[in-house]
Amino acid sequence: MDLYEHQARQMFEDHGVPVVPGKVATSATQAERAARTIGGPVVIKAQVKTGGRGKAGGVRMARDAGEAAQIADEILGLKIKGFTVRRVMVARAVNIAEEYYFSILLDRTKRRYLAMLSREGGVEIETLAVEKPEALVRRNFSPLDGFTDTLAREMAEEAGFDEADTAKLVPVLKQLYSVYDEEDATLVEVNPLVKTASGEIIALDGKITLDDNADFRHPEHAQLADHGSMDPLEAKATNMGLNYVKLDGSVGVIGNGAGLVMSTLDVVADAGADLASKPTPANFLDIGGGANADVMANGLEVILEDLQVRSIFVNVFGGITACDEVAKGIVQAYRILKSEGIEPKPLVVRLDGNNAEEGKAILNQAQLPLGQVDTMDAAARKAAELADANGGL
Ligand SMILES: Nc1ncnc2c1ncn2[C@@H]1O[C@H](COP(=O)(O)OP(=O)(O)OP(=O)(O)O)[C@@H](O)[C@H]1O
Ligand SMILES: [Mg+2]
Repeated sequence: MDLYEHQARQMFEDHGVPVVPGKVATSATQAERAARTIGGPVVIKAQVKTGGRGKAGGVRMARDAGEAAQIADEILGLKIKGFTVRRVMVARAVNIAEEYYFSILLDRTKRRYLAMLSREGGVEIETLAVEKPEALVRRNFSPLDGFTDTLAREMAEEAGFDEADTAKLVPVLKQLYSVYDEEDATLVEVNPLVKTASGEIIALDGKITLDDNADFRHPEHAQLADHGSMDPLEAKATNMGLNYVKLDGSVGVIGNGAGLVMSTLDVVADAGADLASKPTPANFLDIGGGANADVMANGLEVILEDLQVRSIFVNVFGGITACDEVAKGIVQAYRILKSEGIEPKPLVVRLDGNNAEEGKAILNQAQLPLGQVDTMDAAARKAAELADANGGL
């Protein structure tokens, strides 16, 4: 489970991580009251479980309570990457001298934890990792050892912090590790971790992912789940019994089997990397084994409702589910969608495995507005190109 920033802020505070006072508001009036209680200039921050809020106009400074009300009113209801802002956090504005980056996460491939620290925070970490990898200090460590004083110190020194800053930073990094460890998180990320003009280290933003497998150890985590503001498409898909996760990109993906769908996401992201709009997957959707027409129609319906989708890639490897059944499902799905007046989007189908030839023949015969491509790579490329040509994002 991913937490909202305000929940992460509270968890940080509970573990002694320095944070600024912050209050949640769902209306302009509440925001005004919160700003008055906090006092002085505040920052109004959209509470949505997606990155890049700042760039989308979801993080703004307000000089006083009146301005806080006005800005909260503007941010509430805003759509950020498909998520409607229903809550804002009103946080005390601080005078930032420097912005850093720190995270701890589970490194599954190395079977270790991974800590990352950089003096260049505030920017997107993915960009920093690619453009200035030397500015990002990365250290794997064993859960048995934990995040020790020595490790924290070494990382700070390697990142280029001077002695005085290192001394202030180390205890904060260790408190952040205690959040990670004691709350059974798989990610704790602070971007930016700041040094204020008066020299304090403060976590100004927080992202926490809790390990759902450890829920049994944390009955108190249940209250953090918010079913109400579940992404509407995910809610709809859940009601239809589909395994669907909304993502940020423009290529809708449908496949059978979680493993195949996950690799499809990778292949699509790769295929689109050199195109102008850099299309990436719009969703994860596993239609599972018994992919009949209804399941296919439901899947397509959910994906077609996603306004970010510019093309769709159906990637099926026939095993127990034969490809001719899937093909029939697609044909019927088109019929169902047509009867419901839902406009299709450019579709690429790749069928392989059990009864693939029969499946392809069925699709050819039906003369649907879709393209068939034999290999997964080529089909992903085609879908990415169609998304790009169809307006990108
Ligand atoms: N309390 C604050 N006082 C002063 N400046 C702030 C405060 N909170 C955030 N900022 C400034 O706004 C920038 C963006 O804030 P933040 O990191 O919380 O959002 P974001 O990075 O845009 O969102 P996300 O992390 O979801 O991508 C920070 O880098 C910082 O410069
Ligand atoms: Mg941030």
